[in-house]
Amino acid sequence: MLDQKTIQTIKATVPVLKEHGTTITSRFYELLFKNHPELLNLFNHSNQHKGRQQGALANAVYAAAVHIDRLEEILPAVKQIAHKHRSLGVKPEQYPVVGENLLKAIKDVLGDAATDEILDAWAKAYGVIADVFIQVEDEMYKEAAEQRGGWDDFREFELVRKETESKVITSFYLKPVDGGEIADFTPGQYVSVKVQIPNDPHTHIRQYSLSDTPDKDHYRLSIKREGRVSLHLHDNLKEGDRVLLSAPAGDFTLNTETKRPLVLIGAGVGLTPLVSMLETTLIQTPDREVHYIHASIDGEYQAMGSRILKLVESHEQLKAYFCFEKPSEDDKQNQCFAKEGYIDLPWLETIIPDDADYYICGPEGFMKMAINGLKKLEVPEEQINYEFFGPAIDLSEDKVTVKN
Ligand SMILES: Cc1cc2nc3c(=O)[nH]c(=O)nc-3n(C[C@H](O)[C@H](O)[C@H](O)COP(=O)(O)OP(=O)(O)OC[C@H]3O[C@@H](n4cnc5c(N)ncnc54)[C@H](O)[C@@H]3O)c2cc1C
Ligand code: HEM
Repeated sequence: MLDQKTIQTIKATVPVLKEHGTTITSRFYELLFKNHPELLNLFNHSNQHKGRQQGALANAVYAAAVHIDRLEEILPAVKQIAHKHRSLGVKPEQYPVVGENLLKAIKDVLGDAATDEILDAWAKAYGVIADVFIQVEDEMYKEAAEQRGGWDDFREFELVRKETESKVITSFYLKPVDGGEIADFTPGQYVSVKVQIPNDPHTHIRQYSLSDTPDKDHYRLSIKREGRVSLHLHDNLKEGDRVLLSAPAGDFTLNTETKRPLVLIGAGVGLTPLVSMLETTLIQTPDREVHYIHASIDGEYQAMGSRILKLVESHEQLKAYFCFEKPSEDDKQNQCFAKEGYIDLPWLETIIPDDADYYICGPEGFMKMAINGLKKLEVPEEQINYEFFGPAIDLSEDKVTVKN
């Protein structure tokens, strides 16, 4: 445990560090990659360029520091990050490396204001926070490895089938090269995929949600053409080729304990975890009402539309609403076509059932509209679940936003 004086120093200096937020975090990553270039194989370079990850890691340390004397309060947030770390293969011995470079960055940026007392307090606090993460992740690694068909770290998978789902989305069916069983997962979870791209000095890791139901002997990933890794997978990966996969991870998971109607709201490729939830619910809890609401540019960009239509025809508990930004004449004839243009709250309000569980996934602006809109409609927060397809958590100041 930390002594009272250290706790006071930490709490007094968090606002100072936050004031220099971006400068410290930029310096931190500069030092981290200069001193440990091998970590460029682990971090997502695009998130670095867009500044998303810069905020995430250091802000999470600051937020944890504010809660240093009651870390149990931020345990759900720690677990969400730990899922991501575990899927990436973050190791205990890497924590001191991050701590050392974060401290150096604080010292560089604050200059003389960073007294020995302050630096000492931060070193101690980081140690306590890191221990919590290490412990939570240790349990997750064990759980991942010890489950039936499980493994820790990365396992080699072979592409057995590739299927075009839309103009921009392709599904990849993957089976383990060792021929063994695969681990079960809860709909909504993702895996990390590690690839070596020709003529690229680094390996790259990305997360992809599992889009099929868990009862199969393969994992299915449905991936949008976007940038470095997805283009490589779309353009270069052929049947028989191999990629490395983490065991399934993530806390955006379908609650099957409730009978409340299930409302899935997605846009674009954000449909992937939702389709897994939808199909699993139809199989496992067929008496549950399901509403599938999905937005895309038009029918050509929409993935899995015809599959959903078939499911609607054979399951009266399922309602699907296709929203097309710019529908073609054919799209307007689609029996599930429900709205032209963007999804908005007034429209959403007209179709959602009372007292439902919501699962939301799509681009940031869309998620903001849906989440804030549902809150305005007084949907209880614990019934609103969502997944960001990027660094997720806003752990700012002493306000901890914990994802469901
Ligand atoms: C939990 C989770 C689940 C996910 N599930 C899915 C899924 O099911 N399907 C799916 O398709 N994706 C999913 N994603 C997103 C996926 O992980 C990747 O982020 C996505 O495939 C893009 O990676 P990329 O390497 O193809 O593109 P990147 O090369 O990483 O580029 C991504 C974006 O960043 C921009 N960018 C890159 N470099 C720069 C730069 N220097 N400056 C400014 N902008 C830049 C690019 O233009 C592009 O728009 C998920 C993400 C998470 C976190
Ligand atoms: C106490 C220390 C740490 C904290 C508080 C922390 C916090 C975070 C947070 C908040 C995220 C974003 C999670 C998300 O995507 O939603 C993240 C992602 C990540 N962390 Fe950590 N982290 C810590 C230590 C480490 C260590 C030791 C490593 C390994 C060197 C590491 C590597 C990563 C990587 C690679 C990502 C994903 C980055 C990306 O894809 O852009 N972290 N971490």
